[in-house]
Amino acid sequence: MPRYTVEQLISLVGELPPMPLVARRALEMIRDPDTNMRDLAGILAMDQALAALVLRWANSAYYGIKFPASTVQQAVTYLGMRTLHSLVLAASVAAVLERPMPGYGLERGELWQHAMGVAAGARLIAGRFGNQVAEEAYHAGLLCDVGKLGFEMVLRNVDTTAADWQGYSFEDLESAHFGVDHAEMGAAIAVNWRLPGPLVNAIRYHHQPSKATEGAILAASVHVADSAMMMLGVGLGKDGLQYEVDPQAFERVSWKPDRLNELVEKVLPFVEEAKLMLTMNRK
Ligand SMILES: [Fe+2]
Repeated sequence: MPRYTVEQLISLVGELPPMPLVARRALEMIRDPDTNMRDLAGILAMDQALAALVLRWANSAYYGIKFPASTVQQAVTYLGMRTLHSLVLAASVAAVLERPMPGYGLERGELWQHAMGVAAGARLIAGRFGNQVAEEAYHAGLLCDVGKLGFEMVLRNVDTTAADWQGYSFEDLESAHFGVDHAEMGAAIAVNWRLPGPLVNAIRYHHQPSKATEGAILAASVHVADSAMMMLGVGLGKDGLQYEVDPQAFERVSWKPDRLNELVEKVLPFVEEAKLMLTMNRK
C-alpha cells in the first residue's frame, strides 16, 4: 500500500466543487450585522436550487409555519437569519457530502445525514456558550468528516475485509496506511477553503477534542454530537463500532454522557427533514 501526503490526497479530491458563489455571498451577508433581509432574498433568488431549497425548508413540517411562503422574500422573513445561515451552509456542502463512499461502506447520502445530525447536535450542545459559538459548532459539525473524501477514492481499491484491516478504528487505519487521518485531512481541506482558525481546529481535533487549544469548545461539542450519532447508527459505515469517546469533552461542554439519548431525540427530526430535502432536490 503506497503512502500519500496530504497534498497528494487533496489533489485526489480535485473534483471537489468549491463553495458555490451565491452561497458564499449569502453567508457573508448573513454574518454582516447590517444586512437587510431584502438584499439577502435577492442574492438567494439568484441561485435556482438554493431558492427552491429555502422555500421548501420554510414550508417544511420541521418549522411548522402556519402560512405557506410562496416567495423567497417571505421564506427569508419566516425563517430568520440564523436558520438561513444553517440552511445555506448545509446546501452549499450537500453536493460534496451526499456522494456514495463505497470505501467507507457508506451509501449515497449517509455521510450527509451523519453530518446534518452532528451539526444540529453540536449546535444544541454549544448553545450554552452563546449564539455565535453555537452557529460555529453547527458549521464544524457539518464539515468534521469532510476529510473522508480525500481517502475515499484510494480506499475504494483496498480490500478492507482483509485481515490487516480488522480490529482497528478507521482513524488508525487511515494513519497507518496513509500517514494522516481524515481529521487532519479535513483540516487541510478547511484551510484550502480559507475557513477561520477555530473551525479548522475543531475539524482537526474532532476525535481528540482535549488536544484542541483554539476552537476547544467547538471540537468538544462536535465530538459529543458525533458520539451521539454513532450511537444512533447513522452514517456508520465500516467506522462505527470502534469509535473512541473522550470523557473530557463531555465535561468541557457540561453534557452528561447519559443525556446522549436526549440529544439523539432532538436531532432526529432535523436529520429526517434534511433527508427529505435532499431527495426532493434530486428530482
Ligand atoms: Fe470523524
